[in-house]
Amino acid sequence: MKIGIVGTGNISTRHLEEFNKIDNVRVEAVCDTNKANLDRFLSLNKRNEIRGYSNLDEMLEKEKNFDGISNTTPDRFHKDTTLQILGNGYNVFCEKPLAENYKDAKAMVDAAIRSKNINMVNFTYRESSAYQKLVEIIQSGVIGLPRHVNACYYQSWLTSNKWGNWRDEDKWLWRLSTKHGSNGALGDTGVHIFDFAVNAVGNIKQIFADLKTYHDKGEKIRDYVLDANDGFNSLVRFENGAIGTITNSRYATGHANTLILEVFCTKGSIKVELDEERRKWSTLHICEKENVNEMSWETLECPKTPNNYQNFIKSIQNNKNMQPDFVQGAKIQKIIDSCIKSNDNNSWIDINN
Ligand SMILES: NC(=O)c1ccc[n+]([C@@H]2O[C@H](COP(=O)([O-])OP(=O)(O)OC[C@H]3O[C@@H](n4cnc5c(N)ncnc54)[C@H](O)[C@@H]3O)[C@@H](O)[C@H]2O)c1
Repeated sequence: MKIGIVGTGNISTRHLEEFNKIDNVRVEAVCDTNKANLDRFLSLNKRNEIRGYSNLDEMLEKEKNFDGISNTTPDRFHKDTTLQILGNGYNVFCEKPLAENYKDAKAMVDAAIRSKNINMVNFTYRESSAYQKLVEIIQSGVIGLPRHVNACYYQSWLTSNKWGNWRDEDKWLWRLSTKHGSNGALGDTGVHIFDFAVNAVGNIKQIFADLKTYHDKGEKIRDYVLDANDGFNSLVRFENGAIGTITNSRYATGHANTLILEVFCTKGSIKVELDEERRKWSTLHICEKENVNEMSWETLECPKTPNNYQNFIKSIQNNKNMQPDFVQGAKIQKIIDSCIKSNDNNSWIDINN
């Protein structure tokens, strides 16, 4: 199968590696509007014999018969490039967040449905086998009804140098600037933690959000105005009656990339905690049955489950769209829009799913 990639920055390498690991699947062509990024990608991946182009128009004109195209451009380019990919009749695997706002995300859903192409969004943390098991257990009802949820996402790239110095690199600076199409931590990593919670617990009915931008880190670097939020807290009410907090920070010193989801139900509790090195991605914690009275937790190791790249290929092969699809991406986008509205109005917002 022939795969293309649009955008050869940071995350594109992972797309290349994961697709090329799958039998009979090869990334054959890539494009980037930034020549330096394209050249770096091609020189680092010489042995893969990939053809490079300076923009999507050129790639679509010179290359035919893609089975699927990955969209790894920054958030603000997702809509136009994805519509172009779909318009050319190709299946698309788009990076998160699906778009900059719900209106654009909905336009992408409509185009995907019209085109009948496979469409998926890369909510990476779905790939944790422990998370997959957590969803299965909650949905089976064996630990009762969800009552209380704690979901948080911690990063520390504003205080640590784990991924380099954010002041020097475009790939971090665009994430701090609304003019560059970023909804800050909320749009960048908040989408992951909302997807994580909603997919496991159910739709959110109402939300109250407090977004925070720390201006003492500086107001502007080069063309980047540093006005996007650095973190948020949200209070949520789920449609099924559960309540919870969903939070996210880029100032969580001591955490490179940690996601925690705890769901307390009427007959038990369940928890996953994912780390940057993927050491804990298969580990699930559960307190149920007689352990409920002992406050004691069992630890389960969950067998590996397919990742999003494998599921995208499987969707194409079976012509059956797997999750997470654009509809889910748009649902999460609506929550992001509602958080911004809640913060601006200092009020609870109804989310009509
Ligand atoms: N799923 C995940 O866990 C995960 C992790 C990291 C990034 N991402 C997402 O991936 C996307 C890219 O992030 P990144 O960190 O790789 O950014 P990046 O800035 O490192 O790379 C983006 C690349 O896209 C190129 N580009 C911009 N417009 C283009 C266009 N119209 N056509 C072709 N190329 C274009 C840029 O020149 C750049 O090389 C973002 O939406 C981000 O949110 C997702």
